[in-house]
Amino acid sequence: MQSSLFSPAFAVWNQRQVLQQKRDRLQALFHAVNDPDSLTLSQWVHLYAAVLEFKPDLVLELGRNVGNSTCAFTEAANQIGECRVVSLCRSTNWQESTQARVSQIVPAEWFQPLDARVADILQVEAKALLGNSQRVLVLWDAHGFDVAEYMLGSLMPLLKDRQHIVLVHDITDLRYHAGQESYGDKPLWRAGNDDVYSDHTVRVVLGHLSSAVEQAIALVDFTSRNHLPLHSADESFYSELSQEQNNVLRDLLGDELFSRNAHWFWFSLNETNESALIHFPKFTSPELDRHLNKPASSSHLNTDQLNAEVALLKSTIAGMESSKFWKIRLLWLKLKKLLGIHQT
Ligand SMILES: C[S@@+](CC[C@H](N)C(=O)[O-])C[C@H]1O[C@@H](n2cnc3c(N)ncnc32)[C@H](O)[C@@H]1O
Repeated sequence: MQSSLFSPAFAVWNQRQVLQQKRDRLQALFHAVNDPDSLTLSQWVHLYAAVLEFKPDLVLELGRNVGNSTCAFTEAANQIGECRVVSLCRSTNWQESTQARVSQIVPAEWFQPLDARVADILQVEAKALLGNSQRVLVLWDAHGFDVAEYMLGSLMPLLKDRQHIVLVHDITDLRYHAGQESYGDKPLWRAGNDDVYSDHTVRVVLGHLSSAVEQAIALVDFTSRNHLPLHSADESFYSELSQEQNNVLRDLLGDELFSRNAHWFWFSLNETNESALIHFPKFTSPELDRHLNKPASSSHLNTDQLNAEVALLKSTIAGMESSKFWKIRLLWLKLKKLLGIHQT
């Protein structure tokens, strides 16, 4: 279903002249990043065109890794001006290697719109992150239920009153990519983020969506509860452009830069009535969890953080065991045993 808010296919179509002029530059940046398994060059073009077309004042990138989307977004932000790119990731690949390779192609000022932070997304306060931006394009490309809870429970309520679109990577539209229906000889997908089968062959199929990452479930859940359209970029490319338009794009850009295969979806709360009641999941930051003296969910903690957590719990237990209450309780249990009392 075509949206009046945004169309992935028309973004590329409308920006085709710029894309043609930028062909060599995009190719050079793509090779400098050198991580084609995470994002193809044609997907770079989708993201780049999306920014040129939507003209956000803030691009928020959740999940950078080596930095394909980071680079495509920063190139676009330089092009449109008045646009910041805030990129959150726990990976240091960008700082340690990609940035140096990209620097050989671009001038130093190119990096100005980019704020590439090494951080745990769950620890970043959403309000401060959005600042006073009015028009936001989010790329949701960090996997897992924890980030999904942050995205849907912490960011979405704040995006509701701003113009925004959220692009979600790593979800395929089976209506245009048949062949993923078979289980093959693989077991059921049981949550996880394609880390067990790195060839992405263990997938969950939900209606026409196929994915190997947890956020697909959270996304379908959220958009279903809120009766929100969940748009398929594959559908946009395969159904909104005429054959003639497709041929023009292929002639202008070539097969490497133009492909209809997107493997991403998008949605926006701007497509609901302003007065509509939106249901958001509860998100509690691990920081707040700690303040409330509850052990934080361990799935996003690294080894150092886990060790610190274990040490804290051990000292709490030792403190409890040395307390008067604990000693009296142990005496009471001994006495009960001696007297043969069995109820606690
Ligand atoms: C699929 S990669 C991003 C790919 C990138 N967008 C691109 O275009 O190449 C996802 C990244 O998100 C990071 N990530 C996952 N959970 C995170 C979290 N809670 N905080 C920060 N980064 C996280 C992972 O470490 C990984 O580097």
